[in-house]
Amino acid sequence: MLKQLKELRREALSELNQVNELRELNSWRVHHLGKKSKLTQILRSLATLPLEERKKVGAQANEIKRALESGLVEKKKFLEEIHLATSLEREGLDVTLPGRPVPIGRLHPIPQVLEEICDVFKNMGFQVFEGPDVEWDYYNFEALNIPQWHPARDMFATLWVDPEMDKESRLLRTHTSPMQIRLMEKKRPPIRAIMPGRVYRYEATDVTHESMLYQVEGLAIDKDITLADLKGTLFEFSRCLFGEERKVRFRCDYFPFVEPGVEVAIECSACHGTGCRLCGYSGWIEILGAGMTHPDVLKRGDIDPEIYSGFAFGMGVERIAMLRYGIDDIRLFYRNDLRFLKQF
Ligand code: DAH
Repeated sequence: MLKQLKELRREALSELNQVNELRELNSWRVHHLGKKSKLTQILRSLATLPLEERKKVGAQANEIKRALESGLVEKKKFLEEIHLATSLEREGLDVTLPGRPVPIGRLHPIPQVLEEICDVFKNMGFQVFEGPDVEWDYYNFEALNIPQWHPARDMFATLWVDPEMDKESRLLRTHTSPMQIRLMEKKRPPIRAIMPGRVYRYEATDVTHESMLYQVEGLAIDKDITLADLKGTLFEFSRCLFGEERKVRFRCDYFPFVEPGVEVAIECSACHGTGCRLCGYSGWIEILGAGMTHPDVLKRGDIDPEIYSGFAFGMGVERIAMLRYGIDDIRLFYRNDLRFLKQF
């Protein structure tokens, strides 16, 4: 029996030596340590042996069992390490590689510039108001001294909502100036407000024209407001947005709802005044219309022109963005070409 045990031990350990896979190791365990293994059978049959022999054989068998068990544990650890090492090598996982960057979105250049414009005026004490894109003829035209027969209606190619196209009709506002009347109806002077928003024009698009664009309207009404206030405000605006160096041009212009009316232009950013496609070869780009609020307009807002005076201005946001960034085609803003938009 002792001899048989010795042989068993030698055989099991030498087989264990040759195992080099975890699956094989399991079969080895079942074969040498399982319920039906020789060793287990010997251990079970100990009871039938005479006492002296039982002691010797028992001690020997238990020693073998421990040896095989610890051999098993060691081999398992060894095989697991090898398995991990080879699979790491095969999968080539490099944990030091940087992750894939997640692209971060950003604001479209127009709302960016719009925000900048609003900030400049907010810093000068202007409040911000918004109004409807679909507007009544009354606010868009009538109340601004542009009755139905007025030739100034030709300045705006209008997109009508109601087919009658008369005094009671609705339209897509052609400018943000109707907000002047809406604001005067609601607020008493002193008023200092800007009113940003979308406006619409029914016209062919080209490098400086789009059928939808953004404007910022301004209105200031108080006692003793003069043209000097208007000039000072707009020069400061230009200084903040374009810097000290940029030349600003103030000229007379006509708008039915102001008297006198002015037009403000800024030195072209693409050609610096020498003339190019962007500025129509004039060296200047008109960025806004303005003037002293017409007494009749004040009256429609129930404000007494004998006591109060005011100024108003309206500017195109796309034009300003173009000047700001030296862009020579307004249509780029709404083509949604990411290569263009990503630059801002
Ligand atoms: N609303 C005019 C336009 O879209 C611009 C304008 C001119 C606004 C003079 C004003 C102003 O407030 O006083 O062309």
